[in-house]
Amino acid sequence: MTDGKIRPADLRAMKARGEKIPSLTAYDYAMTRLLDECGVPLLLVGDSVGMVVLGYPDTTHVTMAEMEHHVRAAARAKPRALLAADLPYHAYETAADALANARRLSAAGAEAVKAEGGREILGQVSAIVSAGIPFIGHLGMLPQHVLEEGGYHIKGRKEDERNALLADAKALSDAGACAIVLELVTPPVAKEISASIPIPTIGIGSGVDCDGQILVTHDLLGLFPWFTPKFVKQQLNSAEQMRVMVTTWKAGLQGQTTPR
Ligand code: KIV
Repeated sequence: MTDGKIRPADLRAMKARGEKIPSLTAYDYAMTRLLDECGVPLLLVGDSVGMVVLGYPDTTHVTMAEMEHHVRAAARAKPRALLAADLPYHAYETAADALANARRLSAAGAEAVKAEGGREILGQVSAIVSAGIPFIGHLGMLPQHVLEEGGYHIKGRKEDERNALLADAKALSDAGACAIVLELVTPPVAKEISASIPIPTIGIGSGVDCDGQILVTHDLLGLFPWFTPKFVKQQLNSAEQMRVMVTTWKAGLQGQTTPR
């Protein structure tokens, strides 16, 4: 295609050319448009929206209605980037649920959907892919399972974890996934997975050898100053800049008086 629109095949071609795939989260019209103008090829309406925008303690509280609302807002920016969206917790328990909810996100404007898990969700992945909806996998630390797992733990340190990750990545790729997010996977295992499958891996806290990197935009830009994951190299301190600007503006107003 020559319209400049990024499609799943373009991400795969980037991997084949050895070109890194930058990816960021976007939850609304303005951020989607701005990041798209920066040429980021893959934008994700992640369920991290629940934490950095909606104020939930983790992503398990995010609903389909909330995801649809944010996907609609992001899609109004009509990005050139591929616009993906997360299926939230409990939205893909069965293949039928997964397909119905993937269709809802597509109707809201998502061009791909992402869900967490490997071989245990293959039925759901097949239902989504067979319906022609591009699917992105998510392996390693699975934020929707943070409560069962008792925290955000690095994956791939033990041999059985490494083997399971490799098998899950192959199974997702064979099932037709167009990319896989690897979250908090040990860098050597992330590298091994990336070399073993034809589809791109998009790492987050998983080392430099993934085919792409994704970050929560709020972490990159310092928009959520109360918590920043250890692996993030913040590029801007937006919260601090905002505090200075607003305090200066407020002081300027307070220095003025309204004639009575
Ligand atoms: O919800 C999200 O933002 C994500 C990315 C961090 C990978 O899943």
